[in-house]
Amino acid sequence: MSANLSFGAFVKRRARLAGQPLLEGLGSANPWFAQVDGLQAAVEARGGRFTSFGNYDYLGLSRHPDVRAAAIDAVRAQGTGVNGSRLVGGERNFHKEFETDLAAFVGMEAALTLVSGYLTNLSLIPHLLSGDDLLVVDEFAHNSIMMGGRSTRATVKTFRHNDLDHLDHVLATARAGHRNCLIAVESLYSMDGDHVELPRLLEVRDRHGGWVMIDEAHSFGVMGPTGRGIAEHYGEDPKRIDIIVGTLSKALGSSGGFILSHGLAIDLLRFTLPGFVYSVGLSPAVTAGAHAALKVIVDEPQRVARLRRNSQMFLAKARAAGLETGAATGCAIVPVLFSDFMTTLDKAAALLRVGIYAPPVVQVGVPQDAPRIRFFLSAEHTEDEIDRTIGVLAS
Ligand SMILES: Cc1ncc(COP(=O)(O)O)c(C=O)c1O
Repeated sequence: MSANLSFGAFVKRRARLAGQPLLEGLGSANPWFAQVDGLQAAVEARGGRFTSFGNYDYLGLSRHPDVRAAAIDAVRAQGTGVNGSRLVGGERNFHKEFETDLAAFVGMEAALTLVSGYLTNLSLIPHLLSGDDLLVVDEFAHNSIMMGGRSTRATVKTFRHNDLDHLDHVLATARAGHRNCLIAVESLYSMDGDHVELPRLLEVRDRHGGWVMIDEAHSFGVMGPTGRGIAEHYGEDPKRIDIIVGTLSKALGSSGGFILSHGLAIDLLRFTLPGFVYSVGLSPAVTAGAHAALKVIVDEPQRVARLRRNSQMFLAKARAAGLETGAATGCAIVPVLFSDFMTTLDKAAALLRVGIYAPPVVQVGVPQDAPRIRFFLSAEHTEDEIDRTIGVLAS
């Protein structure tokens, strides 16, 4: 066995494998960890207008006056943190009030919030499954779902992205040898902007027997006429979904994760889920901001309609300009794919030169041969911003 590497040597080796020399070679063209506020200030100092497609503030609520005011008032009244796990000392009235409204909005019985969307998947999946069980996951599911799968003793199988015939086949071959089965998918996929066909998914689940967990991180506030998510989009009863997970960090403009399910399931998780029991409760400002944002979504469904209009417009104009948009369906996320890494970086840099921030997604989170610039649309974007962006991309 070779000798233990010094920690410094280990880190250098890992950094090389992660592509650090390549990033250093890019110098000031390195698009990662761009300071968006700094970019905005620089563009505005030149008299330009800054546009970001790099933030999943889908409904433009993170700076909404009601949302800001609620967060500020909460800090004034309640302080900055709850200083404990909710099981022991961290529980506040505002947690329950928010969770009740969140569950009612989607049409599920009950909700539980955690301090991170990532943590929610990571903790929940291994908690639900044991060694006799089967987890079947869409191959493009978010890293938090994949890492949750890696932490379980259950057998883990993947099926081809959004290919429910393949899911059917995987279940036909693997389901019988296991006790419980969890099928984990996203509703709206954040790298491709395509979504799962919910009615067929539920039909496959019913035929083979199992539970469906849907991650609505990107579809909450986005899909369905009033933003209630994928079930509303398909006119399905959300209660047919066993577990919905999601995040407060996207349409709700805050941070944190949530689980929606049957009342008894949520009661059980409240006492047993490690990522909830052994972690602090949501802070006052975070909860109040997300709760106020939820109220705005209910009161102003026109924001959801504006987001849909902008998304469909962006997709239609991109396609008309001959850009490659893959499987995008015109729901808030539209990738524009390029042939190689450098062309992708060049296009992102060209956008930035005219004040448009849209970070390239290469190597991390997508296949290496499918680099892209991923555009998050918002209800706040204007047609002029979309036209200018497509103009640069197509030139
Ligand atoms: C599908 C999905 N699930 C979970 C998460 C994690 O959510 P958060 O960033 O709020 O922790 C993300 C983040 O982008 C996501 O895209």
